[in-house]
Amino acid sequence: MLNKRETLRHQKAVDPETGRILGYARWCLPLSYEMNPDDGTPIWPEAQVPAVEPEREAEIRRMAETVIWDPNNDADELLDRVNALEKEVTPRTPYISLEYLAVHPDNQRKGVGTALVKSGMDQADKMGIEIFVHALREGAELYKRMGFRLIAELVQDDSAYGGSGEYGVYFFVYEPGSRTDSA
Ligand SMILES: CC(C)(COP(=O)(O)OP(=O)(O)OC[C@H]1O[C@@H](n2cnc3c(N)ncnc32)[C@H](O)[C@@H]1OP(=O)(O)O)[C@@H](O)C(=O)NCCC(=O)NCCS
Repeated sequence: MLNKRETLRHQKAVDPETGRILGYARWCLPLSYEMNPDDGTPIWPEAQVPAVEPEREAEIRRMAETVIWDPNNDADELLDRVNALEKEVTPRTPYISLEYLAVHPDNQRKGVGTALVKSGMDQADKMGIEIFVHALREGAELYKRMGFRLIAELVQDDSAYGGSGEYGVYFFVYEPGSRTDSA
């Protein structure tokens, strides 16, 4: 959470009665859009992780480095095609990236994902720049409903790697001011 503090913005949706976290979204602001040019204060400060004391940060980073990161690279050929397409369709103008969106399975289909995405759309409207998202099948309908435009999609057979046979990725753009009634 302390990485790229300047540009990353995090949001959690919390149940006010139980305090349980229902969902989470991570956004990345484009460089040079992360602070107000007039006074240097951060843009969207309520979604920025607060800084911690340097000693505390060093301790957190030491702990993070002990994690064993050993991903399985078997399906990389599928990802290579996804990455190539993403490179091709990524907007050439500054954009907010929706990097991560997840709602706990117990709380899905209750509007939590919509609320999280909506708050990023509010920022995009305020800043006058697009949102770009690399979506999975589960999220595609949500973005469409909210007024995002599908700019590319790729469905590949992932059955050789234990998948369902249809590994789909969808690239969407939200242009500021173009939200639909359901957003
Ligand atoms: C995708 C996800 C974030 C949606 O969050 P959510 O809180 O359930 O979404 P909402 O309740 O706001 O749903 C709004 C609309 O999106 C669509 N939608 C949501 N989940 C869907 C799903 N699993 N399949 C198809 N459409 C879906 C529906 O149109 C839904 O409206 P409806 O419930 O009236 O039919 C959530 O299902 C999730 O975390 N999935 C696992 C992680 C994941 O795939 N994240 C990547 C997203 S790109």
